[in-house]
Amino acid sequence: MEIRKCRTGILLFMVVYFFIAVFNTIPPKTSRVIPKPKQQTLPFLTSQESITPLFNTKHFMVSAFMDQRRKAHDIRIIGIFKRNSIRPLHCFFYCGQFFNKTTSASVLQHLAHFKYPYGPADVLCRMPENCSATHVTLLTQPSPVNVSDHIWLPIRNKKNPYEEKLNFTVCISTLYGDYNNVLQFAQTLEVYKLLGVNRVVIYNTSCGPELDRLLKSYSEEGFVEIVQWPIKKYLNPSSGWKVRVHKGDLQYFGQVVTLNECVYRSMERSRYVVLSDIDEIPMPYQHNNLNSLMASLHRKHRKVAVFILESHVFPKIYFDPSERFRLPQWSNVSGINILEHIYREDPDRKKFLHFKMIVQPKRVEQTSVHDVLRKFGGSLRVPWKLCRFIHIHVPRRTSLKLEELKVDKRLWDFQEKLIPNVDKALQRAGLLTES
Ligand SMILES: *[C@@H]1O[C@H](CO)[C@@H](O)[C@H](O)[C@H]1NC(C)=O
Ligand SMILES: *[C@@H]1O[C@H](CO)[C@@H](O)[C@H](O)[C@H]1NC(C)=O
Ligand SMILES: *[C@@H]1O[C@H](CO)[C@@H](O)[C@H](O)[C@H]1NC(C)=O
Ligand SMILES: *[C@@H]1O[C@H](CO)[C@@H](O)[C@H](O)[C@H]1NC(C)=O
Ligand SMILES: *[C@@H]1O[C@H](CO)[C@@H](O)[C@H](O)[C@H]1NC(C)=O
Ligand SMILES: *[C@@H]1O[C@H](CO)[C@@H](O)[C@H](O)[C@H]1NC(C)=O
Repeated sequence: MEIRKCRTGILLFMVVYFFIAVFNTIPPKTSRVIPKPKQQTLPFLTSQESITPLFNTKHFMVSAFMDQRRKAHDIRIIGIFKRNSIRPLHCFFYCGQFFNKTTSASVLQHLAHFKYPYGPADVLCRMPENCSATHVTLLTQPSPVNVSDHIWLPIRNKKNPYEEKLNFTVCISTLYGDYNNVLQFAQTLEVYKLLGVNRVVIYNTSCGPELDRLLKSYSEEGFVEIVQWPIKKYLNPSSGWKVRVHKGDLQYFGQVVTLNECVYRSMERSRYVVLSDIDEIPMPYQHNNLNSLMASLHRKHRKVAVFILESHVFPKIYFDPSERFRLPQWSNVSGINILEHIYREDPDRKKFLHFKMIVQPKRVEQTSVHDVLRKFGGSLRVPWKLCRFIHIHVPRRTSLKLEELKVDKRLWDFQEKLIPNVDKALQRAGLLTES
């Protein structure tokens, strides 16, 4: 009797288990039926964050990418390395099983370290023959002592014919502090959309409460891709780029690392990448959008990898006197209203000019903030009358008086669509009371 009860129990358990298993695998009606690869459990830990300490070293791994543009290697791991403690490393691969031999890695430091103790570095490895690797990690000795000590990175940028191709991605490096410039953020993102931008990648260390809501709403919609960037957990990042003035371990929250990560993240999916800040807008002055601008530039300059543009400051201390766009519905939204800033500084071309870039990611190997240091192809200075960055900022040429600034109302050409789109975005995020 006891045995039979027990058997019935087991049988019941199996039936219930069977149903749970079956119903768990039935896709909900609304989802498209796409055959999914079987979820296998991997025999190691994969990194759950964008910054991963490298076992037995002072370095960090960020992301691993397939990169076969040079003969000497197939894999590029972007990292943050302690510059004075670089030792030989070995690449260890997983291709359905652990590959039984490591390959030696070469470490290519970036020049754009701004003399901080930590800097961006690329680790280059050759994938072993007959190993189609899905994951990689780095070792300090030629073979692993204990596999479970290592955290693995998935290898990204494997060619995916199904992935939708984007025309323009904007990379915004690190957001930090309690930055809460909601109105400018929403307006800028909506101008980007009108210019033909398909994706904005933002590296988030921290931000203010309303901006957090706005970004979450844009990220649900798919326009914004947030990469969490918890750099403060591991290092003491500086808040600038002059090592004597802005103390710390790493330049400007790891700006150069994030820009490079973004270029590689976008390489297989986006034709162009704009390397920018959120207070900057790449603005064509003779075309309606970035697509037609870049098509015309590309026709004349086929081998150009990097398009260099001047960034002109529109001082945020001067306002349009007509107050035409000081709209009542925005009065309670925190941040700058970009439509109110119509005065432009002409840069002093005898001194350092501030440049920003639009690049073809497939032709970029290593980038810095204002120039690309290693690339496949040339670079072109785009005439400022054709396209320039609108940079709403504190005055740069502080000696200039208001009368010496140029009136530039290019942003107003977008107002008809821009204003309702900004209102909708703020409403979606619950930051505007509906009228
Ligand atoms: C690694 O695997 C290959 C093929 O399975 C084998 O021929 C080779 O001897 C192995 N090498 C080591 C060091 O175990
Ligand atoms: C790779 O696979 C091919 C075909 O299976 C085999 O002929 C070759 O010896 C393998 N190479 C190595 C290094 O194991
Ligand atoms: C390997 O590492 C795991 C986790 O750190 C530990 O539990 C285990 O004892 C280690 N094994 C050996 C052989 O060192
Ligand atoms: C990219 O640009 C082309 C040409 O202007 C356009 O046909 C296509 O729809 C655009 N793709 C996206 C994702 O916006
Ligand atoms: C940005 O990072 C902070 C700190 O981790 C987090 O509280 C916030 O929710 C993040 N915001 C977004 C939009 O991911
Ligand atoms: C702005 O906030 C104030 C105080 O909370 C409120 O009285 C006013 O109606 C709000 N204005 C708008 C346009 O939402």
